[in-house]
Amino acid sequence: MAENLIIPPTADRRELYTALLPQIQALVAGESDPIANMANVAAVLRQAFGFFWVGFYRVVGQELVLGPFQGPLACSRIGFGKGVCGAAWKARRSIRVPDVDTFPGHIACSSESKSEIVIPVFDAKGQVTGILDIDSDKPDDFTPVDISCLEEWMQTIGGRLF
Ligand code: SME
Repeated sequence: MAENLIIPPTADRRELYTALLPQIQALVAGESDPIANMANVAAVLRQAFGFFWVGFYRVVGQELVLGPFQGPLACSRIGFGKGVCGAAWKARRSIRVPDVDTFPGHIACSSESKSEIVIPVFDAKGQVTGILDIDSDKPDDFTPVDISCLEEWMQTIGGRLF
């Protein structure tokens, strides 16, 4: 398995997501351990896009429990419906927050985080198995392109992550 990532020199996020997806697919297809896969996916997203914080939370009982991530220290457990992550879990849909200070109940792990995007991951039965959380230190850093591309990523590789 190649551990070399080819990152095209473009600032176009859709182009980046599209170029990276087959590489990510190959990476996770060659590894059966979900923690190793979550760790590498977080690393790729951090390296390619320079996001402030990228990580996964796993559904464990009635809580989300912190999984592999890249970035500063984060809270370990988030209740169902709590914060942006718990809200995305409860609503069973992606949530994009242009300004974290305006999201009711936002859990601030770092004051440097300004905008956020959360993508739930589903198993074959439609149960949420975990979420992908990305924080940016820039306000309004995410667009519907991030949502649709990351949803495609999670639909494609989610079964190798949780
Ligand atoms: N802001 C998140 C908490 C997780 S950290 O951003 C890593 C939330 O409100 O759920």
